[in-house]
Amino acid sequence: MPQRKDDRLWGGRFENAPDARFDAFQRSFAFDQRLLPYEIAVDRAWAKALQGVGIFTEAELRQTLTALDNIAERATSDKGWIASSTAEDVHQFVENALVEQLGPLGWKLHTGRSRNELVATDFRLFVIDAAGDVRKGLCALLHAFVLQAGANLKVPMAGMTHMQHAQPILLSHFLVAHAEAFLRDLKRLENAAASADACPMGCGAIAGCSFPVDRNAIARELGFSKITSNSLDSVSDRDFALDYLFALSGIATHLSRLAEDFVLFASQEFSYIILPDEYSTGSSLMPQKKNPDCWELLRGKTGRITAALFSLFTTLKGLPTSYQRDLQEDKEAVFAAHDQMEDMLWVAEGALAATKFRADHLCAAASNPALLATDAADYLVRRGVPFRQAHDLVGKVLREADKQGKAWTQLPLAELRKISPLFGEDFLPGLSVENAIAGKVVPGGTAESSLRAAIARLEEKLTQRENKS
Ligand code: ARG
Repeated sequence: MPQRKDDRLWGGRFENAPDARFDAFQRSFAFDQRLLPYEIAVDRAWAKALQGVGIFTEAELRQTLTALDNIAERATSDKGWIASSTAEDVHQFVENALVEQLGPLGWKLHTGRSRNELVATDFRLFVIDAAGDVRKGLCALLHAFVLQAGANLKVPMAGMTHMQHAQPILLSHFLVAHAEAFLRDLKRLENAAASADACPMGCGAIAGCSFPVDRNAIARELGFSKITSNSLDSVSDRDFALDYLFALSGIATHLSRLAEDFVLFASQEFSYIILPDEYSTGSSLMPQKKNPDCWELLRGKTGRITAALFSLFTTLKGLPTSYQRDLQEDKEAVFAAHDQMEDMLWVAEGALAATKFRADHLCAAASNPALLATDAADYLVRRGVPFRQAHDLVGKVLREADKQGKAWTQLPLAELRKISPLFGEDFLPGLSVENAIAGKVVPGGTAESSLRAAIARLEEKLTQRENKS
């Protein structure tokens, strides 16, 4: 290999070597090696661009492309090669490896370009792929919701607000509610991928490239749909990573809400679900325990995802416009949040699919007569009573039943009529969980027909999105 003072990418103007501990502190290869496949793809596109402007001859281009292929191959077959490398970052790693194979020709590839644009381009490509991978996990979770919602169309449950019994709904309604939120997350993921989809190559360090490279051709070769518009903005911008972390935070927040519901549902007080053994753990002391650890951990790990978003926001706040070394701190948060999310979605999908719902307990809770109080008020409204008055009259019925120590539906009609003569013979027989649910036929309501339509729509949107990718 030809010798330079040392193999750093920037050593020429320095008298002294960096302090050893500072040197370790400033290196990024330990984590940015993950960008290697993207770096190599960008190098290939750049080599072609340089040939296009006459910096590389045909032969030099061919040699460089072959050397890049060799690097890609060795990187997958020889893990020790990467582990033992002393490169400062992924950019230097490839350059060193090129020079090792090609001699000084290896140095030629960095003509007209900067690590500032390279790292921005690699990272954008990573985010696009990452969003695609998480998208698959999210679609699998959505399929599990569709299956569970379809299988539980006949099961009523006590819908709650403020954790108090409110109105009867179908279990499917509850499941579709969660699915709708995850469907919006899917859109946010797609938006994040779209915001990363612009190629910075050709922006140089800040000012743009001095050689008339074909930026659009480079973008096309790398699979971007367009180029970035302003070279200075391109090396400063990490919004696309924020968008990605925001999308992940949305998913995590919705997972943690689902988790909280299921932790409660698994408690003896609710007993709405049977936890799958495969996603639960026991106690080292109490033999009877089956703990909802998968949901607790999903809830707990959400903190890491939102922390990654805040961490990047904090890094970016107040940075001067342009590339600053602070930006090197963008990657680890994104990598960690991404890996965590892949596991979270895998676990959530598996646990949801394997969860058994206790129709008996759900049904028993839905049979609490208090849940029908709103329907009683609606009955009076249909007889011409203004709703506020109807609400008040039903309140009186409830108070009377309370006084007598019975469920209000057990009060004889005569007693009800004392409160309002508008209660007719048809009132009590018409009052049931089934009727309350069946009456909510508006689109988005909990009636079985509305839910069948909602599930079909959900499935259709999911298939549309899956076919798009
Ligand atoms: N490791 C750096 C990063 O991740 C690469 C860019 C370095 N650029 C520079 N001008 N020092 O941001």
